[in-house]
Amino acid sequence: MEIKKLGVLGAGAMGHGIALVAAQTGCRVVLRDVEERFVQGGLKMIDGFLSKSVEKGKITGEAKAAVLDRITGTTRMSDLADVDFVVEAVLEDMDVKKSVFRELDAICRPEVILASNTSSMSLTEIGAATKRPDKVVGMHFFNPAPIMKLVEVIRGMATSDEAVRVTAKLAQDMGKVTVEVKKDTPGFIVNRIMMPHMIEAMRIVEEGVATVEDVDKAVKAGLNYPMGPFELMDLTGIDICHSVTEYFYKELNKEGKWVAPTLMKNMIRSGKLGRKTGEGWYSYKK
Ligand SMILES: NC(=O)c1ccc[n+]([C@@H]2O[C@H](COP(=O)([O-])OP(=O)(O)OC[C@H]3O[C@@H](n4cnc5c(N)ncnc54)[C@H](O)[C@@H]3O)[C@@H](O)[C@H]2O)c1
Repeated sequence: MEIKKLGVLGAGAMGHGIALVAAQTGCRVVLRDVEERFVQGGLKMIDGFLSKSVEKGKITGEAKAAVLDRITGTTRMSDLADVDFVVEAVLEDMDVKKSVFRELDAICRPEVILASNTSSMSLTEIGAATKRPDKVVGMHFFNPAPIMKLVEVIRGMATSDEAVRVTAKLAQDMGKVTVEVKKDTPGFIVNRIMMPHMIEAMRIVEEGVATVEDVDKAVKAGLNYPMGPFELMDLTGIDICHSVTEYFYKELNKEGKWVAPTLMKNMIRSGKLGRKTGEGWYSYKK
């Protein structure tokens, strides 16, 4: 089935970026969030990204208008009734995801694939909340979605070969590089590698071995990474990294490896959540 109309759930950091990438490749997009102010926030970020592309001469004003014209914002779940494929990018919370997938299952046509952008959670469990677990798949974009090249395509236990194929093809049509994660394991490939280095970076700061700034400087200059772990956490969201750590702890607890550092818990308690507040690791001491 050709994917002409895409539903995106959640107009936050990831949802708005996924909607933008899809609209740039010619899809019509229905972008749904729970409140109008979140929908408008997502649309504003899309407008801002496209305006910068026009300023830099990457696209014309007409191209920008055409992309915006393909995106419809809504708060009504029923507006997803006629979409050909759905990407869910709501909060990283299993109960919220299951309830959203239950709703989608009731609304979308039976042949429609329901993909989740979850960073770590079980596609098998999300799929089991629906009557179409063979059509539930992971489609994990990276932040910022319009720029980062990778999409991990993840199989739940019941996910069909066809759902994996269609999802990978859709991502490739969006200009992305895809990898298949053959087993439904927490964190898939990239986050399973990334989270331990973030946890270790926080422990180094917690122990007073080095500052946030010097850890980032060391990783950038010593490992040739474009961003340090603290800069990356501020961009990703400390709250999201915390949810992923807690989930890994619950699912993969091996020798205490996945215990969230107290420093991380305190950042969550203080409300300094990087991308959400503009205050993060670089202002935590003030
Ligand atoms: N932030 C990242 O770097 C990143 C990267 C890859 C994957 N992810 C994953 O993407 C998902 C979204 O993360 P985010 O950073 O965009 O979060 P976010 O908090 O920026 O946005 C989530 C949005 O979902 C909305 N929402 C909540 N319930 C909803 C519902 N029932 N229907 C529609 N919208 C609903 C919220 O109002 C919010 O606007 C999470 O699963 C996260 O783990 C995040």
